[in-house]
Amino acid sequence: VKGGFETFMNKEIHDQPQAVADTLLGRVGEKGELILDEMRISETVMRSVDKIVVIACGTAAYAGHVAKYAIEHWCRIPVEVELAHEFRYRDPVVSEKTLVVAISQSGETMDTIMAVRHAREQGAKVLAIVNTHGSTIARESDAVLYTHAGPEVAVASTKAFLAQITACYLLGLYLAQLRGNKFPDEIAEDLEELRLMPERIQQVVDTEGHVQAVARELAEERTVLFLGRHVGFPVALEGALKLKELAYIHAEGFAAGELKHGPIALVEPGQPVFVIAPSPRGRDALHAKVISNIQEIRARGARTLVIAEEGDDAVEPFADVVFRVPQTPTLLAPLVTVVPLQIFAAALATAKGLDVDQPRNLAKSVTVE
Ligand code: M6R
Repeated sequence: VKGGFETFMNKEIHDQPQAVADTLLGRVGEKGELILDEMRISETVMRSVDKIVVIACGTAAYAGHVAKYAIEHWCRIPVEVELAHEFRYRDPVVSEKTLVVAISQSGETMDTIMAVRHAREQGAKVLAIVNTHGSTIARESDAVLYTHAGPEVAVASTKAFLAQITACYLLGLYLAQLRGNKFPDEIAEDLEELRLMPERIQQVVDTEGHVQAVARELAEERTVLFLGRHVGFPVALEGALKLKELAYIHAEGFAAGELKHGPIALVEPGQPVFVIAPSPRGRDALHAKVISNIQEIRARGARTLVIAEEGDDAVEPFADVVFRVPQTPTLLAPLVTVVPLQIFAAALATAKGLDVDQPRNLAKSVTVE
């Protein structure tokens, strides 16, 4: 069942290129339209959307956080990302022009179900991005875009996360096309980049030996910090969540720009800090800013573990360890940069002799509020 792997999580990390490929498969029609599994929202309504609110919990919410960067950039529609349980118990401003995107692997997370109901009661349309066919969220939403990640068994989400991000990109490109934010050839280029992602993810999975060796060295650490900017920020949050869930280590993710506003006080000699470096070929200011963040923490003695693109030599002088990912457009980078963090968390938990697939106190699907 585990396909020759010691744990389901390990198998699911290896399934990721396929999960992304399957989520893309057959999704784009001849006119570049997004093919949804179920659509009860008209194009007219989709064109009139003036705000998107993503509701989700845990890792699925981080997928939404990545979606915010892509959809706002491509479609110029404001995107809010809200934890479903927070959305549910306040008085959110939604209208018939709000598109609520509910992201859930299981489709049975009670917090997210309640938030979907709350949104629909107020007239918002709900599009579900779910992995489980026929699940409650899929049934109760106005439209469904299934992630084709296949069954995810390990409690810690990996391949579902990558598939969710992929589905969000498809949604963003669809909206950009429908609303005329992008020319068809630009959409075609973006789709081509997406098509290349499974291969790039595989290249990162192939570096697992290096990541696992580093994880074993850090097995006794008590705190690990994660820094990222732009789309690297949700990746940092996800890296920290994986480590908490699997290795029971205190881990925190920060927006790199927040460092000086407080978290840098935590940095003391030897403190391991992961940094997700953006592509140097993207917005230059972004890359330069992260390099200076790495310098700042290194100057305070941090042990820097940097995830950087192939060919990004600027990180070398300030990195104790570099994990390489293939060159990827900035907005799509989370699909590759999160992979070393997943491998790291699983390997560290294994080194500590913990149950990787079934961490203590956690359930795969949280069906109570
Ligand atoms: O099934 P869902 O995607 O709705 O689950 C949401 C979260 O409970 C889930 O992502 C959780 O954070 C995972 N354990 C993360 O690894």
